[in-house]
Parts: sequence; structure tokens; C-alpha cells
Amino acid sequence: MYILSSDDMIKKISEIKDLPTLPVITFEVNKMLANDRITVDRLSQTIEKDQVIVSKLLKLVNSSFFGVRSRVSSVQEAVVRLGFNSVRNVVLSVSVFESLTIDDAGMDFNIQDFWTHSVAVAITSRYLSEKARMQDPDDCFVGGLLHDIGLIIMARYFPDILSAIMHKVMEKRISIYQAEHETIPLRHNKIAEIMAKRWQLPPALCDTLKYHHTPNKYAVNPELLTLIHLGDIIVRRNFPSSFNPVREKVDPVLSSVAPSLEKKLDHLFQTSVNWFPDVMDVIRDACEFFIHTKEHDHHE
Ligand SMILES: [Fe+2]
Ligand SMILES: [Fe+2]
Repeated sequence: MYILSSDDMIKKISEIKDLPTLPVITFEVNKMLANDRITVDRLSQTIEKDQVIVSKLLKLVNSSFFGVRSRVSSVQEAVVRLGFNSVRNVVLSVSVFESLTIDDAGMDFNIQDFWTHSVAVAITSRYLSEKARMQDPDDCFVGGLLHDIGLIIMARYFPDILSAIMHKVMEKRISIYQAEHETIPLRHNKIAEIMAKRWQLPPALCDTLKYHHTPNKYAVNPELLTLIHLGDIIVRRNFPSSFNPVREKVDPVLSSVAPSLEKKLDHLFQTSVNWFPDVMDVIRDACEFFIHTKEHDHHE
């Protein structure tokens, strides 16, 4: 019972005048990272143009779950200590978090549970990356944080469709992705890709959002994609909420990475019940930072 075709939906999204935008400096920072002649001074000066981002960035890098031991007191110092790529990822994380707000009152979609899931996948994917020594852990953090943003776009612009999906999730005890299959021509992963491209995010990240339910070796970065895919499944298995009320039963697809890495990831998957409680402590700290700080800011 599709009300819209997938083309209709793409067209509707492209016609939305007030689609969420990211702060201008996010684009500038991404552009600089794509350029070889980037320097610490130039990157720091660019970020310093946006004082809101600066204060959030320093708060994040000094937070308990971020993993920097001694205090970082300036953007310059953050760039020197963390490196260009990590700082870009921090900027991206705080920007997206600021930009994607919705009012979920009266909806069958709990925004706090959504962000909790996103933060959980960010932390879990980062952990998998560190344990398997695969990819940059910070790239995994951002990938995890953003992987389901298509749902926020749906909540904001297609709330009736999302309500119907969430009803189906509850009623049939299936995952959102399965419920979408029966309800909507354009699922959240595709909507996330449209947004990521519009925001000019790095191609590997756009692709990761698009394929996080169906990893494959033709993706721009199959390793990054597989880490997010696995992080998502582990969270959905071990950490149910109103957002995913049913413990996930499907097994992850790990065959898009080299056999030695596949083995490591499979071991991490099989043992996840043992290590997930430790990761859960970090997730709680990170939620405290992202979700509660956000609520606090909004009351100011
Ligand atoms: Fe998803
Ligand atoms: Fe997810």
C-alpha cells in the first residue's frame, strides 16, 4: 500500500525548502581535509570562526568517554593532539547533533531513544575498530552516529509514514528495516544517503549510510561499512529500546572484508554478550554528553 513511489519521495525530499543544513564551517573543514596543503593553523582558524562549534568541540574532546587524558584547552591543541581527521569527525558529530532536532510530541517515535541507539552504535563501532585494528576509530564513531539519520528526516517530513512503520514494528515484532519494506518505497538508508550527499560528506561515509543494512564489497570502503553494520546488529541484539523493541536475530554479513579480518570480527560478534556490558558504560557516558547536554542547551 505505497502512497508514494520512490521517485515521488525523492522528488518530495528535493523540494523541501527547510531541509536541515550543517554549519558552514563543516563544509569548509571537509573541503580543507580534501586538500593536501592543509595546516594546523589554517584548520584551527577556520573552526574558530564558529564559536558555538568551538565550545562544543572542546566539551566533547574533554568528555570522559572521548579518551584524551589531559585537558585540551584550544582548537589548535585539539588539532595537534588528535590530528586533522579526528578533529573533522568531532566537528561533524557536534554539527549533525545540533542540526537534526525535531519535536517528537504526539509521535510514535521517541527521539531520545533514537539518539541513544545512534550513540550506542557509534561507541560500539569505534570499539570494534580498535579491537580488530581496522579503520580509523573516529571514522567509525561518526559513521555510527549518522547511520540512521534517514529516520530523523522521515520523522520530520513524513511523520505519518514513520508512525505507520513504528506501529508495524510493535505489532509484528519486526525491525524498522523490515517494516519499511512493507510500507515505504524509499527506506531510511537511502534517505540518509540523499542527506549525506547534500551535506557533501566524504564519499565513504555516504556509502556507509546507504548500505549499512546490506554490506557489500563494491562499497567505497567495505571495511568501514562492515564495522558500522556489525556495530548496529550488536546494539540491536544487546540493547533493545522503544526504537528497536525486538532483539535482532539476523547474523551480520562480514564477507566483504579480507578473510583474516572477517575472522576477527566474527569472534567479536560471537563474544559480544561478554564485552558489551563494558561498552555499555561508555555508551551511558556518551549519552549523558550528547543527549543531556543537548536538552540542557535547549532550556537555556
Ligand atoms: Fe538502519
Ligand atoms: Fe541502526
